[in-house]
Amino acid sequence: MSGAGKPRKGTVAVVGAGFYGSTTALRLAEYDIFERVVLTDIVEGKPEGIALDMNQSRPIEGFETQIVGQTTGANGEGYEAIAGADIVVITAGLPRKPGMSRMDLIETNAKIVRGVAENVAKHAPNAVVIVVSNPLDEMTALTQLATGFPKNQVLGQAGMLDTARFSYFVAEELNVPVGAVRTLTLGSHGDTMVPVPSQCTVEMDGEKKALTDLLSGEKVEQLVTRTRNGGGEVVALLKTGSAYFAPSAAAARMAKAVAEDAGAVMPVCAWVDGQYGISGVYLGVEAEVGAGGVKRVVETDLTSSELEALQKAAEAVRAKQADVRDL
Ligand code: LAC
Repeated sequence: MSGAGKPRKGTVAVVGAGFYGSTTALRLAEYDIFERVVLTDIVEGKPEGIALDMNQSRPIEGFETQIVGQTTGANGEGYEAIAGADIVVITAGLPRKPGMSRMDLIETNAKIVRGVAENVAKHAPNAVVIVVSNPLDEMTALTQLATGFPKNQVLGQAGMLDTARFSYFVAEELNVPVGAVRTLTLGSHGDTMVPVPSQCTVEMDGEKKALTDLLSGEKVEQLVTRTRNGGGEVVALLKTGSAYFAPSAAAARMAKAVAEDAGAVMPVCAWVDGQYGISGVYLGVEAEVGAGGVKRVVETDLTSSELEALQKAAEAVRAKQADVRDL
C-alpha cells in the first residue's frame, strides 16, 4: 500500500538534529508508518530547516509522515512539540573527536542528556525512550534515573549497530551477502563489548554454518577487534563527528520494533535483572522490543568464556553507571 490511504499511527520524536538525529528522523519518516516525526534541536532554526527540507522530499519519495521541526531553549521552551510522543529517540550530546573514547564524553553529555530526559518526562511521560548518546550504557542509565520511568520503558541503542558492523565485516571477509550472516554482540558499547562468535552463523550453499567453522580463531578475533573499534575507525576517517548512517539505521529499527509490537528480538542496551547471573545494570543483551519498550530479556547460550566476559562487562558498566548519578 502506498500514499495517503495507508494507516499511519503515532508520534515519534528525535531530540538532536545533528547527523545522527536528522538521519534517524528521515529513516523513521520514510518507513511511512508514523503520523508525525518531531525533530528538535537547540540550534535556532536548524530543526525547522531540516524538517522543511525533508517534507519537500515527500512528493518524490512518496511518504506521508509529516516531519515537524522545533527549536528548544535552555529552559525547556519548545518541548511542547513532543507532547504525547509514543517514542522519543535521544541523540543529544557531543560526538567523539579522533582519539577520544566514548567515555571521554561522560561529563559533558551527562549534563545535556539529564536536561533532555527531564523535559521528556514532563512532556511525554508515556514515551518509550531510546537513548543513543555516548557513552551509551551510562547515558541510558542516566536517562532512566532522570525520567524516573519504569526501567523497561528506557533502552539504549548499541547492539544493533555493533552486530551490524560485525556482520558486515564477516560478509566482506567471506564474500557472502550481508543477509546470509548472523552475528551477535553483547556487553557494553565500548571497551567491554562482548562479541559472541559461538552464536554467529553464515548461510552458505543452502546450509547454516558456524562462523567458527569457516574462519580461524585468529581471524574471528581480528574481526571482533575491528568491531569493538568500529565506531573509532569511522571517527578517525571523518575527523569531525562520528558515524551516523549505520547508527541511525539501528535506532530507527528499534523505534519501528516498538511501534509495530510484533515480537522483534534484537540486541539492545536493557535493564538486566537476574539474566546471566547479572542484576541491576543497563547492559547490552538480546531483548524482545515492542509496545512499552523492553518486554523481556532473552538469554542465549554462551560459552563459559563469553559468559565470563559478559559478567566482567556488567561490573565495568555498573561502576560507571554509579558515577552518572552525580553528574
Ligand atoms: C558509534 C558511535 C555512534 O559507535 O557510538 O559509531
